Amino acid sequence: MKIGIVGGTGGMGEGFALRWCANHQIVIGSRDKNKATEVANNYMKIAQDFYKDKMRGNVSGDNNFDLAKDLDILILSIPYETINDTCSKLSQVVSENCIIVSPIVPMKWEEKGFTYIPFEEGKKTAAELVADNFKSRSRIVSAFHTISESKLKKIELNLDADTYICGDDLSVVQKIKELSSEIQGLRPIYLGQLSMTYQAEVLTPMLLNGAKKNKLKNPGLKLV
Ligand SMILES: NC(=O)c1ccc[n+]([C@@H]2O[C@H](COP(=O)([O-])OP(=O)(O)OC[C@H]3O[C@@H](n4cnc5c(N)ncnc54)[C@H](OP(=O)(O)O)[C@@H]3O)[C@@H](O)[C@H]2O)c1
Repeated sequence: MKIGIVGGTGGMGEGFALRWCANHQIVIGSRDKNKATEVANNYMKIAQDFYKDKMRGNVSGDNNFDLAKDLDILILSIPYETINDTCSKLSQVVSENCIIVSPIVPMKWEEKGFTYIPFEEGKKTAAELVADNFKSRSRIVSAFHTISESKLKKIELNLDADTYICGDDLSVVQKIKELSSEIQGLRPIYLGQLSMTYQAEVLTPMLLNGAKKNKLKNPGLKLV
């Protein structure tokens, strides 16, 4: 599959690219095409060193909006505050059948700890904001909120964790469950429709508060 990662120059983008380029064509997106190309070349070298002759995919770089024209899956690896600006432009170019994935967590740091912006400020969940910008809500899935970037980037690491997934169309959700399962040790758990996404997004500030206040290093979540 051809998978584009908007904001793919950040930590999560690196992790997604390194994990999925074993089998897929990955395009790293950035506001700056030169930066995207440089970063993609670097990811490609790391991946080739690791997968060697088992590598069937590749990594390239492009401008966020040029990459979106011809994709099977588009990952929105950008901050919450940038959703409307970025997605309103992406919606002009993304193809009808492309699946759009939001791992975006609306979260901020306050003195009391990490808090979830939609509950604190009455704003929309990230997935709902994303959906507002695209024609087809059924192509939107939210996932990967509770995966730590530092663990995702370590290609050799078994994550031994769940990822919680929401989306309205079960056949679309199934494709993202399959893609999740390609990440070693990551079990996809479906939570329900896109409107249930707050239940997945809010787990990240919970996880980070638990980690910080109990001195745990990059914990994950799993239903047992
Ligand atoms: N980090 C984690 O462990 C983690 C875990 C779970 C979920 N998440 C979520 O995953 C998403 C990506 O996380 P991240 O840590 O990789 O994010 P990040 O490093 O803060 O940002 C990712 C990329 O977004 C682009 N960007 C920054 N400001 C922008 C703007 N105003 N407009 C358009 N693009 C902009 C930048 O790329 P360019 O400068 O190259 O354009 C940047 O490299 C976030 O929504 C986060 O909440 C993160």
